[in-house]
Amino acid sequence: MDVKLHRERPIPPEGVLELYQNVNWWPERTPEDVARVLERDPACGVWDGERLVGFARAVTDDRVRAYIEDVVVHSDYRRQAVGQELLAVLLKELAHIDVVSLFCEPELVPFYEKNNFRRSRTQVVMHRKSHP
Ligand SMILES: CC(C)(COP(=O)(O)OP(=O)(O)OC[C@H]1O[C@@H](n2cnc3c(N)ncnc32)[C@H](O)[C@@H]1OP(=O)(O)O)[C@@H](O)C(=O)NCCC(=O)NCCS
Repeated sequence: MDVKLHRERPIPPEGVLELYQNVNWWPERTPEDVARVLERDPACGVWDGERLVGFARAVTDDRVRAYIEDVVVHSDYRRQAVGQELLAVLLKELAHIDVVSLFCEPELVPFYEKNNFRRSRTQVVMHRKSHP
């Protein structure tokens, strides 16, 4: 398995959309949306030969804050430490950032704790959607 940042091995938007489809995420996103995201912020892919089997990205000001988004490993490749490696490579790229945050379901807390994330005891997550 090859784990590479987008700048080292370009990630095809279509491969990302296939991974989203695998987890039923974001059917409304287009290849253009993904291409735009990839050109702005850090992203990392996991490759099995020519096949993209994992993806994660960050939204960041490149200085003091970053938010990890869209962490996904294809269902055929899970529980083989692929996700841990993917996250570790992305976090290395963000090592200069003061605080890195993310949102996740409660059952994934152990997955992120392995990379030293700690659950907030005091804060809640709030979202505002443009089309409620
Ligand atoms: C979450 C996800 C990326 C994990 O990828 P993965 O390659 O299977 O994870 P790893 O094999 O590296 O897991 C390492 C450890 O994290 C924990 N872990 C991973 N997935 C877990 C799960 N679904 N529930 C609880 N713990 C989990 C386990 O402790 C695991 O170690 P173990 O396999 O020895 O028990 C993958 O399950 C996925 O793509 N899920 C669907 C999309 C999703 O929910 N993404 C997260 C958005 S916040």
